[in-house]
Amino acid sequence: MAIVSATEMVNKALEGHYAIPAFNTNNLEWTKCILTAVEETKTPVMIQTSEGAAKYMGGYKLVVDMVNDLIDSMGITVPVALHLDHGTYEHCYKCIEAGFSSIMFDGSHYSIEENVQKTTELVKAAHNKGLSIEAEVGSIGGEEDGVIGMGECADPNECKQIADLGVDFLAAGIGNIHGKYPENWKGLSFETLAAVQAKTGELPLVLHGGTGIPADMIKKAIDLGVSKINVNTECQLSFAAATRKYIEAGKDLEGKGFDPRKLLAPGTQAIHDTVKEKMELFGSVGKAD
Ligand code: 13P
Repeated sequence: MAIVSATEMVNKALEGHYAIPAFNTNNLEWTKCILTAVEETKTPVMIQTSEGAAKYMGGYKLVVDMVNDLIDSMGITVPVALHLDHGTYEHCYKCIEAGFSSIMFDGSHYSIEENVQKTTELVKAAHNKGLSIEAEVGSIGGEEDGVIGMGECADPNECKQIADLGVDFLAAGIGNIHGKYPENWKGLSFETLAAVQAKTGELPLVLHGGTGIPADMIKKAIDLGVSKINVNTECQLSFAAATRKYIEAGKDLEGKGFDPRKLLAPGTQAIHDTVKEKMELFGSVGKAD
């Protein structure tokens, strides 16, 4: 099975009141352990990459080939979508060409008129090639790949304007931020989420910044129409902590403990465990059956 568009899996999640996990990948180990975890638990998944991470890995074509080849060689049977996270206008086209099965156009920093115009164009281009497309209204706070957003709450009327363009799912800022949440974080704005959902109806909504959101808020967000949840930083933190522990215990100095296959193993296992924990929280385990 090759990568698939995310439309069907996200629509099913909306109907079934759970959320599709969308994990950012950074390299081969990341991708392999996400795939291992979703196959073990029969979970549909979106593997996504930022522009920066794709560049780090060697480019979009390499990412497409890596994911498709692993699906094949690992005998993955669950649906897997490969998605561009926070794409610019130009890079959305690059990913459509490279063979991604889903893209996100982040036009949230444009005026609503320009966001509408560019999203309209990209919806057509993506759908012509069978890809799903996510759009964004109201920038997500925090820092990602050098892009700093202030975490504004989306205007529900603007969400309706973008939803009406035929996007497959919509990211609306509701006070969520990328990375670790600060001590004084006020929490998600469920008022905004409910107002957006009232305007956009049956359109699946996307929650960015899935790292560190308390379980009760995740559940409430899913109840209010969130059907895709992005997680990146939490896997990075798990990987770093386990790798630190291995090195601090001096394991890299014992025998061939410096071999990357040994050195990266605890971190990779830690990502696997975090991925499983998130999928259970999102209610998506077993939904590929
Ligand atoms: P976190 O890094 O906070 O998990 O957010 C991921 C994300 O939203 C990617 O778009």
